[in-house]
Amino acid sequence: MSARQAISVRGGRTLEGEIVIQGAKNSALPILAASVLCKTEVTLYNCPRLTDCDAAMRILTTIGCSCKREGNVVSINPSVVSATEIPSSLMREMRSSVIFSGALLGREKRCRLSFPGGCEIGARPIDYHIAAFKKMGVSVQDEHGYLNLTAQKLSGAVIVLPMPSVGATENIMLAAVLAKGVTEIHNAAREPEIVDLAEFLIKCGAKISGAGTELIVIEGVKELYGCDYTVMPDRIAAATYLCAGAVTRGELVLAKADYNSLRPVISVLEQMGVSIYGYGGNYIYINAKKTLKAPPMIRTAVHPGFPTDAQPVLMALCMTAEGTTVFSETIFENRYRHVSELTRLGGKINVEGRVAVVEGVPKLSGAELMATDLRGGAAMVVAALFADGVTRVGNASYIYRGYEDIEERLRSVGADIRTVQVH
Ligand code: UD1
Repeated sequence: MSARQAISVRGGRTLEGEIVIQGAKNSALPILAASVLCKTEVTLYNCPRLTDCDAAMRILTTIGCSCKREGNVVSINPSVVSATEIPSSLMREMRSSVIFSGALLGREKRCRLSFPGGCEIGARPIDYHIAAFKKMGVSVQDEHGYLNLTAQKLSGAVIVLPMPSVGATENIMLAAVLAKGVTEIHNAAREPEIVDLAEFLIKCGAKISGAGTELIVIEGVKELYGCDYTVMPDRIAAATYLCAGAVTRGELVLAKADYNSLRPVISVLEQMGVSIYGYGGNYIYINAKKTLKAPPMIRTAVHPGFPTDAQPVLMALCMTAEGTTVFSETIFENRYRHVSELTRLGGKINVEGRVAVVEGVPKLSGAELMATDLRGGAAMVVAALFADGVTRVGNASYIYRGYEDIEERLRSVGADIRTVQVH
């Protein structure tokens, strides 16, 4: 249905006003998976209304949990788990469905899933997840594109990740909380969403220390019980709205936002000449009325480095700044697919392997674009807000995977933006 929608933007309006930031997709997804580990009901507040969250809820229903949503509140009753297979259609729809494997192993000691294939932003293998599960006593059979994971007993283990993978760290945490003994995750991912997942699990009765550092220690417990939990604010959606405000040289307040998790993005925006400060606990003020200077170099890195997910939206902003920016993408090998679309607006960007050189231009003009992936699509919307005339971003379904009510939010601060049906 949404695959046939496009987002239409008439650029040139200055954004002014307040945007409320949604709950974090990348936190809600592992927490929805983690609810499988509980014996009693989980209530999640601030759970964003996104197609990716719908897919996670469909997995919960498929494996036997009951699940309902009222607005941004999702209740999961995980008392019964009657199936342990993640259907291949859902694996294909959302690669992060793999996060359910750790939870199902923890709860049922088994899981069957199809191999997540290639992806629009890179290969995204799951070898670290599988190697860690094996260390915990899981036997892995690969048959006709399916992985059968089974364990007589899940045991704690010392796991050293080759790189701090977010998904692998989360999956190991999920498998370890009910395993026998102690699990150590060395070289763990330190992203704020890992801390959010750990805080949820601890509230359910898990024993976890060190989340947010490179050594996470998990002592297995016998049982977990559901709780009420509020998902953290989405730092990538917030980064997108900061870039949207800045690209229009506007003045915005982001409400329900988390300043600390956004520091790597905020420091770049400040370097560009944008004034930003946090206040009142969860508000961020941004004013971009001055001339914006291009930051010379942006290198994506694991947290607390500059987030790869914010690279495309920052690139859209740099296209309009004074000077040249060199982007170096170190996390995913194929994360510049948005570039050829952005150049249709008149942007000057050259890509060579993992490096993109962006030369700022004073003017962009509206064009017909196609979203290439979630964050690339968001970057096209950001650039369109600056461009003269109308830009249509097709394949809007990519954008709806991660942005709740993006048109309404931007319209409420003055953007001329709407959804159009494509026939
Ligand atoms: C998560 C985020 C995604 C973000 C990414 C990096 C979710 C749902 N998604 O994705 O938005 O862009 O973190 O911050 O939270 N790798 C392997 N083998 C593995 C696992 C990962 O080689 O078994 C590689 C990947 O190919 C990639 C790198 O490690 O190059 C980082 O991936 P990872 O941190 O695992 O990203 P995701 O968890 O998939």
